Amino acid sequence: MKRTLGCCYYPEHWPEEIWAQDADRMAALGLTWVRIGEFAWSRIEPRPGDLQLDWLERAIETLGAAGLKVVLGTPTATPPRWMLSRHPDMLACDAEGRPRGFGSRRHYCFSHMPYRDEAVRITRILADRFGRNPHVAAWQTDNEYGCHDTVLSYSDAARAGFRRWCAARYGDVARLNAAWGTVFWSMEYGDFDEIDLPNLTVTEPNPAHVQAFRRFSSDQVVAFNRAQVEILRAHSAAPVAHNYMGRVTEFDHYATGADLDIASWDSYPLGFLEDRVGATPARQRAYARQGDPDFQAFHHDLYRAVAGEAPGAPAIPRWWVMEQQPGPVNWAPVNPAPLPGMVRLWTWEAFAHGAEAVLYFRWRQAPFAQEQLHAGLLRPDSVAAEGFAEAETVARELADAPEVAPAQAPVALIYDYDAEWAWNTQPQGDGLRYFDLVFEHYRALRRAGLSVDILPPTTRQLDGYRAVFAPGLVHVPDALKATLSAAKASVLIGPRSAARDVDFCLPVPLPPDWPGLDVTVSRLETFRSDMPRPLDGGGAAVHWLETLETRADPILTLEDGTPVLVGSQACFYCAAWLDESGLDRLVACVAKRADLSVTPMPEGLRCRDTGAERFWFNHTNAEIDSPDGPVPAAGVLRVAI
Ligand code: GAL
Repeated sequence: MKRTLGCCYYPEHWPEEIWAQDADRMAALGLTWVRIGEFAWSRIEPRPGDLQLDWLERAIETLGAAGLKVVLGTPTATPPRWMLSRHPDMLACDAEGRPRGFGSRRHYCFSHMPYRDEAVRITRILADRFGRNPHVAAWQTDNEYGCHDTVLSYSDAARAGFRRWCAARYGDVARLNAAWGTVFWSMEYGDFDEIDLPNLTVTEPNPAHVQAFRRFSSDQVVAFNRAQVEILRAHSAAPVAHNYMGRVTEFDHYATGADLDIASWDSYPLGFLEDRVGATPARQRAYARQGDPDFQAFHHDLYRAVAGEAPGAPAIPRWWVMEQQPGPVNWAPVNPAPLPGMVRLWTWEAFAHGAEAVLYFRWRQAPFAQEQLHAGLLRPDSVAAEGFAEAETVARELADAPEVAPAQAPVALIYDYDAEWAWNTQPQGDGLRYFDLVFEHYRALRRAGLSVDILPPTTRQLDGYRAVFAPGLVHVPDALKATLSAAKASVLIGPRSAARDVDFCLPVPLPPDWPGLDVTVSRLETFRSDMPRPLDGGGAAVHWLETLETRADPILTLEDGTPVLVGSQACFYCAAWLDESGLDRLVACVAKRADLSVTPMPEGLRCRDTGAERFWFNHTNAEIDSPDGPVPAAGVLRVAI
């Protein structure tokens, strides 16, 4: 696989006279890709039906003439103002029922069918005109589904769509009543048309209702995307991508990715650290100018898995970073500049995790509107900004780097969107999030120097993995249970595994009811974060602890002997949410039984293998020694293996 660079460009923001200079400069920098068009609807169709595509064609030709490959975005994340006059009810509504208005972006409800038709219409117009343009080498659908909390909408359109979805799923309202347990509190329905959305209830709504609404909302995103993809495929042979985000979990990215050829995501390490990693203040200070050492890597591995869902996915799944932070951003609580070296490090880190391309956002900083203070590779006056030289370095290094094929990692970690919604639906304690549980396991695996493959819950093939971690899967479909039970790897499940049936009721026999595992969860408690329960020998259970009825060997216990980790070589059950030291011990136990060697990493150092190279990434501001030699501060060491 050849690794390439690119950038995001907005020809509609700049005078046409400078497009050619820009294009030549991009090519001279060593860029291959340029993404355009994803917010340009008001210039493509300034008035309903008044199509202005010539300027876009000239932009594509200018970029193509410089040797660049164009990724053309469908502009459906930013419908023009006239669209709202045409469809006043197209806006999404928040949980209070208030419409989310015009004046920024993503002002549409996924369930509004007339807007979906408009999205299909504009996609067809673009695909028809540019589908066979030789410079259009890829497409991007919309922009960042789910950004700005836009998946869950409580609009009239969503209510109508949800009723249809329930009717299709349950067929008969009596079946829905039985599955949801609506007899509790006399919530029984006589007809699907009586079902409202689960907002504005007096106290908490039925969790089965909430979980169903979340599944419906995710399906709406998948359907919205699919409608565009079908049009693009009918007119163009170029691959289709979408740019996902960091820690956006409201829709099933695997299901969306199953319709696309390339999974990509937008990586803003410093913005994320402040805004959504959930790091402690001390950690935020330590990594303020480098970003979290695991958050980007987690998403690289996640989106590699999403890419693996593509129809007939190639052996090397195609995934990209569609937007890479090149300097300070403008949207986080604070917006520091990256430590010199980090833009290069982030780029190489993506390649180490198997990225095919990394595109910087954006080519030139905009002197107007919302993102005036967001860095680009160029300043608004076209002078190179700090990130430019680092991109130049990577381009030079790539020219000498071998072509690589990523190898299978020794450890798999299952990440499931349905489990994410289930924990949100019924957390049983403030702030308990599945994402954090899985991410904390991921961090522990990386602290042990292990490369990780993230896998979807639809995985049916675990050959080649020594260990599989599957914490927190609230509902485990039978096929996944069978796959995990038959795996040759050591499998870790719990806490909360198989704790709900498909309709969010507590199953009897009690969970996890797992083949080959003598464990029954008889009770669960959650507790204050300042009341950890120490483990015998170090570490602690935090937040969450299940009482186990078991005759299986205890491997880790609380100080009073209460079993926490039990099991055999084949399958382990963990009854608690563990702190960092507890997780390090858990990983060490599983690794030992799986015959996996671990290399404890110094703080801030991370390691990742491709098929041909080992990378060391130093996320700190001081040099660190690795087994392969010193790794400079904010630097990368790449050795052949
Ligand atoms: C992304 C988005 C871009 C731009 C960028 C700023 O989320 O796709 O359009 O807004 O953030 O960091």
